[in-house]
Amino acid sequence: MCGIVGYIGKKNAVDVILKGLKKLEYRGYDSAGIAVVVDKELYIRRSVGKLCNLSASLEKNPVNANIGIGHTRWATHGKPSEENAHPHMDPTKSIVIVHNGIIENYVELRAKLQIYGQEFKSETDTEVIAHLIKKHYKNNLLHATQKTLSEVRGSYALGIVCKDEPDKIICARRDAPLIIGVGKGENFIASDIPALLPYTRDMIFLENGDIAEITADKIIIKDIKDNIINREMKNIQWDAAQAEKDGYKHFMLKEIFEQPRTIEDTFRGRIYPDEGKVYIEEVKLKEEYIRNISNIYVVACGTAYYAGLVSRFLFENFSKIPTEVDIASEFRYREPILNEKTLVVIISQSGETADTLAALRLAKSKGCQTLAVCNVLGSSISREAMHVIYTHCGPEIGVASTKAFTGQLTALYIFALDLASKKGKLTNEELKKYLKELWEIPLKISEFLKNTESVQAIAKVFAHKRDFLYLGRYVNYPVALEGALKLKEISYIHAEGYAAGEMKHGPIALIDESMPIVAIVVESKVYEKTISNIEEAKARGGTIIVVANESDKEIRDKSDYIICVPKTDEFVSPIMTVIPLQLLAYYISVFLGCDVDQPRNLAKSVTVE
Ligand code: AGP
Repeated sequence: MCGIVGYIGKKNAVDVILKGLKKLEYRGYDSAGIAVVVDKELYIRRSVGKLCNLSASLEKNPVNANIGIGHTRWATHGKPSEENAHPHMDPTKSIVIVHNGIIENYVELRAKLQIYGQEFKSETDTEVIAHLIKKHYKNNLLHATQKTLSEVRGSYALGIVCKDEPDKIICARRDAPLIIGVGKGENFIASDIPALLPYTRDMIFLENGDIAEITADKIIIKDIKDNIINREMKNIQWDAAQAEKDGYKHFMLKEIFEQPRTIEDTFRGRIYPDEGKVYIEEVKLKEEYIRNISNIYVVACGTAYYAGLVSRFLFENFSKIPTEVDIASEFRYREPILNEKTLVVIISQSGETADTLAALRLAKSKGCQTLAVCNVLGSSISREAMHVIYTHCGPEIGVASTKAFTGQLTALYIFALDLASKKGKLTNEELKKYLKELWEIPLKISEFLKNTESVQAIAKVFAHKRDFLYLGRYVNYPVALEGALKLKEISYIHAEGYAAGEMKHGPIALIDESMPIVAIVVESKVYEKTISNIEEAKARGGTIIVVANESDKEIRDKSDYIICVPKTDEFVSPIMTVIPLQLLAYYISVFLGCDVDQPRNLAKSVTVE
């Protein structure tokens, strides 16, 4: 999730762009850059790290211009570095672009251009677009862009400038936000509202397929076939704080609602259900090694550990590989039996958790292959692991992890299927089936998120309870643990996640009228067993709140409150069933007046042991 800003008008473009990028820093920054046109020459400045490094460089060597584009990067392809920072140019240095999104077919596009001798300076997917626009350029930047986008697959928000047409910015969007700020004698583009608010409240929200040509006093929007598109201009009355949260009250709520897109961004370009294909370009495990993996260890902390617990079901059911899951702070001291045939999977949103990093280093010292599932390129764990699968969730600002968890589950699901397919444990038909299940998840979550009033109402009823019990079985037992953690973290209510089958071995003694029990009871091979656990709890006076499939009629008279979710295949169900539990914790925390985004005693990344 990167930040884009562009300007054309009478002001100093560098000043407008830097200020705009600053407002978008919450979208992530591991590098930043700016390109302006002065006297038909392109000036580019890029820097690694925080935006202040770019500002310092521009203060040292200032440049004044009336047109330019800028970018703060949250890397998805290619490590954070100056050469990978945006903007990117074509080989003749006449066209420059900034991009937010993921170009799925950039490898094949780049290979085709390299056959004609084109050289690439970066590892990014973005650079190939600059080359293609130049290839199609015949003194019309808009037409060259239209031709280019007819060849490109994936998501993009683009800002494009050409030194030979210094009076216009071309921009385009597909599955990544881009807004035009409408001024008087000046116009702007940006990934998000906060960058535009200091200059204008009149905005045009581009839709998928829109390509716009913007001058200082004119905006033309077209589609790829050059048809004129009319887009309504909106007047935005948000203040800056509201705008940074996209209008949501908290970052956590915004991140919960981002999940359909972040799950899609994590599988985009990696899975092709119709062909039954998986491509995880960052993982370079050799086929022979995969065939001989003796066992898998999955190691992480907190929410990431619960994602690891789900992955055990995937590795053992799909790939038939014995899998153990351990908490990093335990793993590193227990002398685990590891050898060069052990694959150690390390999960960490931040990539900086001290215990998890130590566990990675222990695994490497024992000669194991290590694979990280991480959300931050350039983080310690992502750099030190031999292989990495990045979740493309963008920065997770809320301390309580939500979109990172479902991003981890998505990445682990894809990897387990890829492993199983390479080990010949899944037929192509089975692979297509499972990939299709994942492909359909974002839409099912979007459907669920359209109507969360029932969760809000339940939260209001139970917000003042002292203790909660969360129950789940099989693949949803880890989700019960995660749901309990969410509630603990942000509402400070004691909550315990438990394997539903374990209730009669002691915890059932806890149950009385004062204790709500949240149970995950979606269609599964353990459905009947979980129902009987619920009946045991209800018979002892417990109040039962269930997360169940909307098609399930039987559950209604066995529970007191129901949160209905769309049905999914069992193995992807945790990605769905966790969503209502995230929301339940969120709304309870809000009712209690807790600090949702920065809960007491917690840090976003535990970099100390
Ligand atoms: C989850 O909501 C917490 N913020 C915490 O448990 C977190 O998952 C844990 O600290 C691991 O962090 P990491 O994924 O960045 O390694």
